[in-house]
Amino acid sequence: MEVKEKITGRRRFLKGGLYAVAAAVLAPVVYGFFDFFTYIRRDPRAPAIIEKSHLGAGRYEFVCGGRPAVLFRENGQVAAMSLECTHLGCIVKWSEKNKRYECPCHGGTFNESGEVLSDPPRLPLKRLKVEERDGNYIVGGE
Ligand code: FES
Repeated sequence: MEVKEKITGRRRFLKGGLYAVAAAVLAPVVYGFFDFFTYIRRDPRAPAIIEKSHLGAGRYEFVCGGRPAVLFRENGQVAAMSLECTHLGCIVKWSEKNKRYECPCHGGTFNESGEVLSDPPRLPLKRLKVEERDGNYIVGGE
């Protein structure tokens, strides 16, 4: 009787381990499957529509075609640019303290207009097309 309980307990343990291994192997496959279909839905060419009131006097960060971007004022005009670093594509963050965009990956920096301040990036942050229409800003799109 005791031996049978030990065997059952070991079997249960092995079965649990097998399920854990199967879950670990299948999780990336399932994630990739759903990520693929959500990628199709978030058309990278689709423009973002932003209510004018969101911008206010400062900067407004948003997602355009699944990618982070920022809307801001420059020389009295509304402009937008991607927040993907032009070095290897990490997402730059605005530093209020240093008044610049900083890349967490390799330390590249950009000024508030997206111009390179320090290496390794060589190109400025990518500008996005902005149109004003019906009280909104239409950003991006190709
Ligand atoms: S990806 Fe931004 S500095 Fe390398």
